[in-house]
Amino acid sequence: MKYIIGNWKMNKTAPESIDFMRKLSSFLMEDTYDFNCHVVIAPPVIHLPHCFQFSKEINLAAQNLAAEDFGAYTGEISAAMLSEYVKYAIIGHSERRQYFQETAVILNKKITMAFKYNIRPVFCVGEKEQDRELGNYFNVIEGQLNETIMLLPDEHLSNCIIAYEPVWAIGTGKTPSLAQIEEMHAYIRKMLVLKIGKYNASKMPILYGGSCSVKNSSSILHQNNVDGLLVGGASLDFMHFKEIIECSDTSC
Ligand code: PGA
Repeated sequence: MKYIIGNWKMNKTAPESIDFMRKLSSFLMEDTYDFNCHVVIAPPVIHLPHCFQFSKEINLAAQNLAAEDFGAYTGEISAAMLSEYVKYAIIGHSERRQYFQETAVILNKKITMAFKYNIRPVFCVGEKEQDRELGNYFNVIEGQLNETIMLLPDEHLSNCIIAYEPVWAIGTGKTPSLAQIEEMHAYIRKMLVLKIGKYNASKMPILYGGSCSVKNSSSILHQNNVDGLLVGGASLDFMHFKEIIECSDTSC
């Protein structure tokens, strides 16, 4: 069963988000729809309450959550508040790391909060372009995992979703080759096997993200160890997102 997660980032007004969710839920309810994949949308947090009316068909994710439990943190939204609406939370997205200085220490607090309130982390890792050019990408990904989710107790680690998102592929229209995607996903899977054993590691979804489009989604989804997609820009347009979901049909 594949995961197709749309991350809207800071886009869409309330009427636009409701219109999209209405179309998507009707599509998922059609008799002909039998794609057997988890469809998740991460809208801006202010839209979660109105998107929630569609939560029978469409699971919701938070794009972020606070590192602290509650209290005097102006502007923050806690995991407890989000847990009324979402099953998942994106944690460690490169935009949060880059623009909001989210370090491993902060990310670990966020992961702890997610688990405390039964929210499943979609934990993002990814190398920068220069790491790719220097041939350093395996070390970077290994480091990002070792200082965060690999520190979790096995039962929590097993419950994470990992998204491999090369920073240089996000919003750029550039993607790694299929062989490069497969190679990194296999590498991550191997790390998981060593930590939690083959059976549990095989059950953990490893998603790819970074310039996913209608054109490339099917071939990426067909790669070994690719269990779904984290889609940014292409999730804003209903027709594009629908076609990406349809790609998962033959890949399930
Ligand atoms: P993109 O974004 O699909 O627009 O490249 C992906 C992401 O940031 O998760």
